[in-house]
Amino acid sequence: MTKVLVVDDEANVQRLLQYTLKQAGYMVLVAADGQEALRLWTAESPGLILLDVGLPKLDGYAVAERIRADEAGKGHVPIIMLTGEKEVEQKVRGLRAGADDYLVKPFHQAELLARMRGLLSRFGDDQGGKKAKPPMGRMIAFYGAKGGVGATTLAINAAIALHRELDRKVVLVDSVLQFGDHRVFLDLGNDRKSVSDIMAAPTIDDDLLKSILVRHDSGVDLLLAPTSPEEADLVLEDRLSAVLSRLRTLYDYVIVDVDKRLNDLSLSILDHADEVHIVMTADLSCLKNVRLALEALRRIGFDAKRLKLVLNRSNAFTGISVQAAESALKRTFETKITNEYRVAISAQNTGAPFTHAKPDAPLSREIVELAKAIDAAAVAEAEPAQLPARAGATG
Ligand SMILES: Nc1ncnc2c1ncn2[C@@H]1O[C@H](COP(=O)(O)OP(=O)(O)O)[C@@H](O)[C@H]1O
Ligand SMILES: [Mg+2]
Repeated sequence: MTKVLVVDDEANVQRLLQYTLKQAGYMVLVAADGQEALRLWTAESPGLILLDVGLPKLDGYAVAERIRADEAGKGHVPIIMLTGEKEVEQKVRGLRAGADDYLVKPFHQAELLARMRGLLSRFGDDQGGKKAKPPMGRMIAFYGAKGGVGATTLAINAAIALHRELDRKVVLVDSVLQFGDHRVFLDLGNDRKSVSDIMAAPTIDDDLLKSILVRHDSGVDLLLAPTSPEEADLVLEDRLSAVLSRLRTLYDYVIVDVDKRLNDLSLSILDHADEVHIVMTADLSCLKNVRLALEALRRIGFDAKRLKLVLNRSNAFTGISVQAAESALKRTFETKITNEYRVAISAQNTGAPFTHAKPDAPLSREIVELAKAIDAAAVAEAEPAQLPARAGATG
């Protein structure tokens, strides 16, 4: 039986809703103010909330905002705002605060029940309905040891491979705010929305995110960087971090192309990522930068197990062999990607990533292997308890 939390300070509204909902087979909890609503939400985990706007102590908008902020990563409780005012601004404010729907009082009980059923089936908490698998929510960062090593190329193609070959739900984020390249690599114009369009909104909710993400032909969703450096300056770091955590509740993978500059934003992304792939080529400045980056990550207490070294263009002649690079860094490369300049550059020039346009090219196949390794690690980490127990010696 689905638990419904009714939040309203008027006794007659409480009584009416209680009656209607019980008749329809719901279990009902009642709160008369915003604080009590938050307490019951935490203690009882209701399957849906009917939330009046004008409440004592904490109003309905504040309650919705708090719930949305606190539930990040845990799921999504559908909220229907009950508003007395008919003004459009009120509705918009309610939706921005995190409500999924609204009803203007007085409403017909059939309409209320229909809206509730719609939301419950959409969010998978319907009576006896099958629950959708929760998103894996893995964040994978690609960080280039210096410009031009292929971090963007690998981030984009790994994102496509994870979706295409492993059927994962993937969002690709260009966090290179000032000089993001994804519009070029993916042939998208400056008219497409970017992360800066989120900054003006008072709160981040799923509808807002959906209106800003861009769906690529490959099926991967994109959060693009702003179109100019000036616009990039408007993007607040903590806002972008909040967007990333929200995206993790919606996708199996959040793939982030990280800015080379180790500022607060990129450090926070690296710090929160489940895996960081440091992309480099075998040359002296990369060796120096990788050492510095490893040192910076050690300082913030980054778990070395989450770090993967990727040698891109591994067979290109640079005068430094793979072995020499590995011994200089005192580590081995988890991934080596071959040099295929024609495939890489023509993909870039046509705006069609090679894993999408040429899935059989050797370079694409190597990226698919990388995607499989990423996914295998995710699955192993998510389900250690579900691995079959090792069989004992047979006799
Ligand atoms: N494995 C590869 N083989 C050949 N060229 C590559 C490879 N990976 C990337 N490139 C090329 O290197 C250049 C820089 O790549 P890019 O992804 O923009 O690097 P970064 O994001 O690290 O600055 C691009 O022209 C790209 O086509
Ligand atoms: Mg780049």
